[in-house]
Amino acid sequence: MIEINDMSKVYTIGEESVYALDKACLQITQGEFVAVIGPSGSGKSTLMNIIGCLDTADSGEYLLDGVRIEDYSENELAAVRNRKIGFVFQSFNLIPKLTAEENVELPLIYQGVKKSERAERVRAALERVDLAKRGNHYPTELSGGQQQRVAIARAIVTRPSLILADEPTGNLDSKTTTEIMNIFHELHAAGNTILLITHDDSVAQQAQRQIHILDGRLTEVRA
Ligand SMILES: Nc1ncnc2c1ncn2[C@@H]1O[C@H](COP(=O)(O)OP(=O)(O)O)[C@@H](O)[C@H]1O
Ligand SMILES: [Mg+2]
Repeated sequence: MIEINDMSKVYTIGEESVYALDKACLQITQGEFVAVIGPSGSGKSTLMNIIGCLDTADSGEYLLDGVRIEDYSENELAAVRNRKIGFVFQSFNLIPKLTAEENVELPLIYQGVKKSERAERVRAALERVDLAKRGNHYPTELSGGQQQRVAIARAIVTRPSLILADEPTGNLDSKTTTEIMNIFHELHAAGNTILLITHDDSVAQQAQRQIHILDGRLTEVRA
């Protein structure tokens, strides 16, 4: 469902060129739970942004569900992103002026889903992360772990082909990390495809597959 071949991305600052991605290759099959692990500055976010259609590579090929992403215009990319990808970020990225329910509802409004169906799907998504009772709370009224659960509900409410999580436990203590990882395990068991980016070994080890990234180069870790 994801196929990346020889993908490179270079940043040039003054005289210096940094390969954020260096001929990266990666294949992910439907239903897999894959972790990408690497130190700070190794290219993790660059990879995630390209896979999530938030950014494009300088060279190489990216096929998502069999379609070459390079061929898409900005508008088409935005549509693919809305329909196919659910994002979870380290800093939750909830909208402070909206309640938990309203945050989860937002992507469905963008998709033009009608109101009655939105309500039902928001309720189901919040139930999935065990936050049905907190739907009318604002982000500041929730703990970090609860905010991340709202963000996960927002990511899954559109039923994306792929859940992309960039350091989702990076701002959380170890107990909350375990809770959030349990949710990812449940989503994986329910058939979701998950790509989780982390610099935490104990988090990466919980995935089915681990890919190391260093200086923009990917290597599969063999169990
Ligand atoms: N917008 C940018 N401009 C210049 N350099 C960048 C930019 N984004 C990332 N980089 C560089 O690319 C490399 C990879 O960055 P990033 O993908 O953010 O790594 P990670 O998420 O693993 O910390 C780093 O050396 C970083 O400094
Ligand atoms: Mg990063």
